[in-house]
Amino acid sequence: MTSMADHHGAAHDDESQAHLAELLDLDAEVLCAYWTDALSWVRRAATGTARVRILDLGAGSGTGTIPLAQRFGDAEVIAVDTSEEMLRRIRVKALDLGLAGRVRTVRADLDVVWPAFEPIDLTWASMSLHHLTDPDEVLGQLFTTMRSGGLVAVAEFSEHLRFLPHDLGFGRPGLEERCLAALSEEHAHSLPELGSDWSGRLQAAGFTLVAERVFAIELDPRHAGDSAARYAQRWLGRLRSGAADQLADEDLETLGALLDGDGPQSLTQRRDLQIRGCRTVTLARRP
Ligand SMILES: C[S@@+](CC[C@H](N)C(=O)[O-])C[C@H]1O[C@@H](n2cnc3c(N)ncnc32)[C@H](O)[C@@H]1O
Repeated sequence: MTSMADHHGAAHDDESQAHLAELLDLDAEVLCAYWTDALSWVRRAATGTARVRILDLGAGSGTGTIPLAQRFGDAEVIAVDTSEEMLRRIRVKALDLGLAGRVRTVRADLDVVWPAFEPIDLTWASMSLHHLTDPDEVLGQLFTTMRSGGLVAVAEFSEHLRFLPHDLGFGRPGLEERCLAALSEEHAHSLPELGSDWSGRLQAAGFTLVAERVFAIELDPRHAGDSAARYAQRWLGRLRSGAADQLADEDLETLGALLDGDGPQSLTQRRDLQIRGCRTVTLARRP
């Protein structure tokens, strides 16, 4: 029997998946220069190899799945994720864009089971491997599933994006540094694989390293429209939830003012936000 607590838990999960999906969609929209460069680079690397079946591991809301289906016009793209809400969003997008015939979704918790796939030619795993309990086990399974000559591209990051100036003009300067330090402390327990040596782990699984590229992100939101401020709001909102226990009351108050809708000190009123960071894409081949 399902209890009331289960209902509340399920509703909370759905809400948090919907929030994450919106954040991921904003990531793709606001950082579209990075996404375009990275996926085009992978597309070029795959020139001359078989491109029948593509896997998007930990696909989220489909920020990789959909552009991959568009770039690889003949391929079937299989999006794998543990979240049904994410996969539902991918199916809706694929349908809207006339890609439903080539985009398939597979719900699987990769910590528990490796689904049966036909041989895979290209795998894209963006910001997902660090969520796994045992990425080496999954990379080992992936190795056996990839076709000889097939490519795997792992997109990861070792530091979170930054948005704020050091001095906001109110509150204590250095808010973002303190928030990120608190988040890192929390992640040391909850996401120990974040910032791992992915090229080393791919090679340990049997893949041959092809190339590794660092994509610098430096974006002035004045040129990125409203979505950049919404992205900053979503991200700092998540940061506040993740790091609230470790932050001083004064910092929580400052965050509250920044996140206060269209309030006088809110992010939407600022003209000095700047999105900075980097993503690293590691490309490897199954011999
Ligand atoms: C940060 S999101 C990245 C999504 C997408 N690849 C992107 O770059 O926008 C990580 C995704 O991995 C999925 N995920 C986390 N652990 C997983 C697991 N054990 N099995 C399958 N998917 C998982 C999450 O549900 C989430 O959608």
